[in-house]
Amino acid sequence: MPKKVHLKETPLLIEGAWEVCNQVGGIYTVIKSKILNVLQQVGDDNYCLIGPYVNNNISAVFDPISDDGDDLVSRTVRSLRNKGYEVHYGRWLVSGRPRVVLFKPHNEAWKLTDIKKSNWESHNIPSFDGDDLFDQTIMLASQMTDFFQELDNLNNSDKKVVAHMHEWMAGIPIPEIRRRNLNIKTVFTTHATLLGRYLAMNDPEFYQNLEKGTYNWTKEAEHFNILPQVSIERAAAHGSHVFSTVSRLTAVECKYLLGREIDAIVPNGININKFEALHESQVLHQRYKEKIHEFVMGHFFQSYSFDLNNTLYFFTSGRFEYKNKGFDLTLEALARLNHKLRVNNINKTVVTFFITKQDYHTINPIELESRAVLGEIRKICDAMEKSVGERLFYVASKGDMIETPTIEELIPENLRLQLRRTVQSWKTSRLPYITTHNLKDDAKDDILNFARNSGLLNYEGDKVKLVYHPDFVSSMNPLFGIDYDEFVRGCHLGVFPSYYEPWGYTPMECVARGIPAITSDLAGFGDFVINDLKRTKVEGIETIHRKHSDYTHSAEELANFMYDFVTMERRDRIAQRSRVEQSSYHFDWNELYDYYIKAYNMVMTR
Ligand code: G6P
Ligand code: GLC
Repeated sequence: MPKKVHLKETPLLIEGAWEVCNQVGGIYTVIKSKILNVLQQVGDDNYCLIGPYVNNNISAVFDPISDDGDDLVSRTVRSLRNKGYEVHYGRWLVSGRPRVVLFKPHNEAWKLTDIKKSNWESHNIPSFDGDDLFDQTIMLASQMTDFFQELDNLNNSDKKVVAHMHEWMAGIPIPEIRRRNLNIKTVFTTHATLLGRYLAMNDPEFYQNLEKGTYNWTKEAEHFNILPQVSIERAAAHGSHVFSTVSRLTAVECKYLLGREIDAIVPNGININKFEALHESQVLHQRYKEKIHEFVMGHFFQSYSFDLNNTLYFFTSGRFEYKNKGFDLTLEALARLNHKLRVNNINKTVVTFFITKQDYHTINPIELESRAVLGEIRKICDAMEKSVGERLFYVASKGDMIETPTIEELIPENLRLQLRRTVQSWKTSRLPYITTHNLKDDAKDDILNFARNSGLLNYEGDKVKLVYHPDFVSSMNPLFGIDYDEFVRGCHLGVFPSYYEPWGYTPMECVARGIPAITSDLAGFGDFVINDLKRTKVEGIETIHRKHSDYTHSAEELANFMYDFVTMERRDRIAQRSRVEQSSYHFDWNELYDYYIKAYNMVMTR
């Protein structure tokens, strides 16, 4: 075991992000999941988060505290309040209950014009007219900057203060801290570059062009209408004492698109909950797989049925970035897999779920109706079960069991008729739908269009079936009735062969639940597995080659891997799941928080 890294000196650490107390995406997971590790290093007194007071349900996650303490943060809050600022000071109700300082962005609406003017004059940061989200970020940044100013004014000790800001939304305080020459050391972490994301979506030669260094950032930013955000990203990157990002891949973007090489990479970790009982996660897999079976019966069996005992569940998930998330490649590979399974006569069905977010009108009412009828069928079967039990008991107690009673004797006719009628009225000749919801833009949807063009339309003879669920899975959602977490556990394989992904939590969350996953060498996480863990240390993570491979080859590689997975024996899958879960501790913050500590040690010497 390598020796653990320690802080050379304990600073007052203020960590800021738009995602503090505000669940909007991957950065939220980064910040929230590492809190216990931060507190273990610096202690509760030396840590405070700073962010926006915007969450609708804020009272559920935020508990106000008094500002009458003698520590620097409380004194700063008190002093700002005396000056008329509305400061929300309290504890964030998550594991570790860290202190937070939150500001309502719109409190500064009255001076928005001045903020824009000052951003432009001091840092060449332009702005938009009437973009509310952008305006909120700069109004928040202005209040955060005032907080740092006040804190510096009141700091009468020689304790080091480190401000660690994440992503452009919380970036502006960094160049401002430098301009005002405050005695605060700054770390900036970018979790992507905006230009990288846009270029990757639009330029098929993105990675080749990137390293040629030929992109003109201003021109491209203007082209995509993101010059203000990119200007903030650059100002924060250039202004920070330590500039960091989440993976080696994004580091390349930083160099070429932001014009500064990074000082440190801080990979993303998670909290691995180790189960006490060795087989608990296998039990959970079985339990939630049955929930998914129920959905599949409702969705498919109305049209035709297949053997659930020989069915595997694949899934992919994430925001709807068709190419960046590799949805295109996944579909292409599935079409190939379908063909391979058919020609080789493999007796397995693969149902693949696409869990993402697209605009929709409603859940398809037919889907709900089918579920309801299936519920009816279950009720009738339960009644039959009861009747069989009672009648069998009666016959047996009479000592009449010389001949096995017939079904007619055990189940009353009315129940049998009711069952037959209900099933008959339920059956349909239409194909099972691809999507579970009525999409707003059905005709232009990329997933649906792929299905239409390739003919992968859930025909009875298809070995590969598609289910496109354009909303997050949650237990409130009537189709699955389980949380995303549980859904993952019930599946067999997560498929995430991204084309652009600075880190990518989805495959990591998958293996932490003991479910094998596919990633790619163009995802920060995949790159970490290949280059830092040298692949060998982890089980059940397949990295598809995309960097030096073309689309067709990558699709074939993915399809072949899927084919091998499908043709595995059940006992091998069970054994693999156990090994996957055990190797996931490499991604625990207990391992990965060291990278943050190194960055803080570095910044305190600058
Ligand atoms: C878990 C359960 C077993 C079950 C198996 C199914 O290991 O403990 O009882 O047979 O899952 O595995 P499969 O990969 O076919 O879903
Ligand atoms: C961004 C990236 C994603 C990463 C997350 C957390 O959302 O797109 O890849 O996992 O930040 O760092």
